[in-house]
Amino acid sequence: MSRSLSALCAVVLLAVMLPVEAQQVPRYGLGRAPTPQEIAAWDIDVRPDGHGLKAGKGTVAQGQKIYDAQCASCHGTFGESNRYMPIAGGVRKDDLATGRASMLLQSDGLRTLGTKLNYATTLWDYIFRAMPWANPQSLSVDETYAVTAYVLHLNEIVPADYELNEKTLLSVQMPNRNGFTTAHGLARVQGKPDVQGTLCMKDCVKEVKVASELPEFARNQNGNLAQQKRPLGPMRGIDTARYEAGKDGKPGPAVAAAAAPAAVEAKADPKVMLTRNACMACHGMTNKIVGPGFNEIASKYQGRADAHAYLLQKIKEGGQGVWGAAPMPPQPALKDSDASEIARWIVGGAK
Ligand code: HEC
Ligand code: HEC
Repeated sequence: MSRSLSALCAVVLLAVMLPVEAQQVPRYGLGRAPTPQEIAAWDIDVRPDGHGLKAGKGTVAQGQKIYDAQCASCHGTFGESNRYMPIAGGVRKDDLATGRASMLLQSDGLRTLGTKLNYATTLWDYIFRAMPWANPQSLSVDETYAVTAYVLHLNEIVPADYELNEKTLLSVQMPNRNGFTTAHGLARVQGKPDVQGTLCMKDCVKEVKVASELPEFARNQNGNLAQQKRPLGPMRGIDTARYEAGKDGKPGPAVAAAAAPAAVEAKADPKVMLTRNACMACHGMTNKIVGPGFNEIASKYQGRADAHAYLLQKIKEGGQGVWGAAPMPPQPALKDSDASEIARWIVGGAK
């Protein structure tokens, strides 16, 4: 056998011995294998059964100090913060015994981690990984035990003299531990979907009611949300860069805008509004995408006396059948003043 043939045989043999995935996954020569240290730094999740939990301890009293300094500004002194994110409240007297948070049986029941979670380990995991908001993963293991103990205490789940550690955490009984089911579409393919909705086309809710929000100083702390969320659908990221404080420590432009809204709106450019409100996902300037191009709309209504009022209503409420079968969805999030400005811009020729 020639040398090149034996080399070829070796290659063929190697290919046969490689696992199937390794043969099929194309290799692009990018990246490198992570080091064990990198994997350890990334692999910090704690499972409901405590797998992944680190040894440590902390008391309710120690946790209160950390909470008051690092958490209360957003979640409220007693976790009750209504305007920002409440993380306590809603647990009723009998819940600890039944393991079913009765608050959740009400459609408008208070949803906090006290009424929602079935395992305390999930709370530990979340705080360790994600909080405080502006500085995630800055808490030590012991600090996380302490502040978790305090948050559990605020929810009346553990007493004031409680010490939480990797063993006691596993024995904490959550008020909604029996409130979970797998009889739905997320857990079973045949299960009932969690959400069954149809696109609202008339008599829709006009105003979005904000149930909780971030304080202005914290909005841009994890980068601009507008660039992290898709620009379509009800969950759009707002332009949080506007909330970035100025270099001189003065509030950012959006905070100033709240003080003088009229002045800022007068300067708003309709084309910026179209992009910001995702109109351009369905409309081109000159061409049809799903809906007609804005120039086409402008020429269609040129000379029509009530064009502004008509377009304003159509933009806010949506509609169907003028340009084809595809519907234009209502735009409840669009401010009336912006819709009016866009309508005026179309009447003026959409230039
Ligand atoms: C700057 C504001 C801010 C600070 C300070 C802050 N949080 Fe939060 N926290 C949030 C926001 C916003 C969310 C919701 C995040 C989301 O849903 O993506 C949240 C969510 C939570 C949740 C989950 C609540 C739930 O019902 O899902 C817990 C628990 C929590 N924070 C604990 C803490 C603790 C403990 C600290 C202090 C160490 C802290 N937070 C500091 C803003 C803050
Ligand atoms: C999901 C796609 C979609 C989005 C997003 C969308 N539109 Fe439309 N739009 C349409 C469709 C489709 C039509 C045609 C409706 C018809 O035939 O009656 C339309 C029609 C219109 C018309 C003409 C109405 C008429 O009766 O001639 C205007 C004006 C308009 N859209 C403005 C906007 C503005 C402003 C936005 C952003 C705030 C927007 N659209 C977002 C799909 C969309």
